[in-house]
Amino acid sequence: MRDQLAFARMQTDRLFEMLEPRAIHERPIPERHRIVFYLGHFEAFDWNMVGQTSFGARSFNSEFDRVFAFGIDPIDGQLPQDRPEDWPSVNEIRSYNQHVRQAVDEYLEKASFAHSDEPFMENGQIFHVVIEHRLMHAETLSYMFHWLPYHLKRGATDIDAINKDGEPREPRMADIPAGQATLGQAAGEGSFGWDNEFESHRVFVPEFSIDVFNVTNKQFLEFVQAGGYQQRSFWSDEDWQWLQTSGTRHPKFWIQRGDHWFYRTMFDEIPLPMSWPVYVSHAEAAAYARQAGKSLPTEAQYHRAAFGSGDTGVQDGNFDFRSWTPRPVGSMPESRSAFGVFDLVGNGWEWTSTTFAPFPGFRPFPFYPGYSADFFDGRHFVLKGASPRTAALLARPSFRNWFQPHYPNVYAAFRCVKK
Ligand SMILES: [Fe+2]
Repeated sequence: MRDQLAFARMQTDRLFEMLEPRAIHERPIPERHRIVFYLGHFEAFDWNMVGQTSFGARSFNSEFDRVFAFGIDPIDGQLPQDRPEDWPSVNEIRSYNQHVRQAVDEYLEKASFAHSDEPFMENGQIFHVVIEHRLMHAETLSYMFHWLPYHLKRGATDIDAINKDGEPREPRMADIPAGQATLGQAAGEGSFGWDNEFESHRVFVPEFSIDVFNVTNKQFLEFVQAGGYQQRSFWSDEDWQWLQTSGTRHPKFWIQRGDHWFYRTMFDEIPLPMSWPVYVSHAEAAAYARQAGKSLPTEAQYHRAAFGSGDTGVQDGNFDFRSWTPRPVGSMPESRSAFGVFDLVGNGWEWTSTTFAPFPGFRPFPFYPGYSADFFDGRHFVLKGASPRTAALLARPSFRNWFQPHYPNVYAAFRCVKK
């Protein structure tokens, strides 16, 4: 547990070390807080969960505990209005962070994970919460820093021999026989999961076929060039509306210069890598699928293709901070599922057609009731798998991610299914 906490802290610290100091008040994603919020958020969250909720300790900075408590996810059009001077200074935040880290480390030292008097301590639950919360942010912070101008980031090139563009794989589909899929994880077994991962249950999935590889930039470019973004019939009413108001004409990671296409990675601008999975919003993925006469997989179909009837089957993939970018689709044999489908875990999250909703038997965490329940609004879709910036801990089969359909900043790939 101590090692996991240290690893998570190292990941978020490294991200902040990447920034030029003046980047701290930037807001690279209009719907999110300024970067400075995140500098204090992880420690405030850790304090609120461990110090306050479990150990009932007295706060040493209740204002910071509150100001840095929660991020934001406004629905289309309502953007935050705060100014840089509304935030505490970087030095004050860093000193608060130091205090909190020391206190949390002391609590972890003396914590007992069995028959403890403190609440939410059984099997180290509250510490898992703070570790995984930080790891999730290590990824979402990457989405945010992605859009900072390059001169505000320090970093080397992010392309090496492994992720270098290559000849795209020939698209094909795999047949998945009818059978059971296992979703969620069983309570009472002692392993950690977020509230939305419970309870474990089985779902019957009729036979279907699924793309063996993620849809590539090459395939998606053909869709763009064939006028896919102008074809009303490929888009739902809401998605079409978003397309018109946002002016979106291609994936956000792409740049068009005349007839030439380029790609924006974290540290570089490169010619569009045709063999990489395309990263798009749910709306764009769904439009592509409709154009192909197919659809996005349901959450249950994803489970079936990745794990068969159980919850094991994919050995490895491009995740756990191994790279800043995807690799060419289908280039990791270890990522192949028993049905021969590549990259279902790693190389980019997988959009599903399933609206984020509770599993039967769902109970919100009492110490964080809004974690999932605030998003059971029919306006968020489930993503499965992992991206290159997803921690290995979070790449477990039961883990569920979710985003609004028009949020274009996620390292989210997709593939199509056919009945
Ligand atoms: Fe958070």
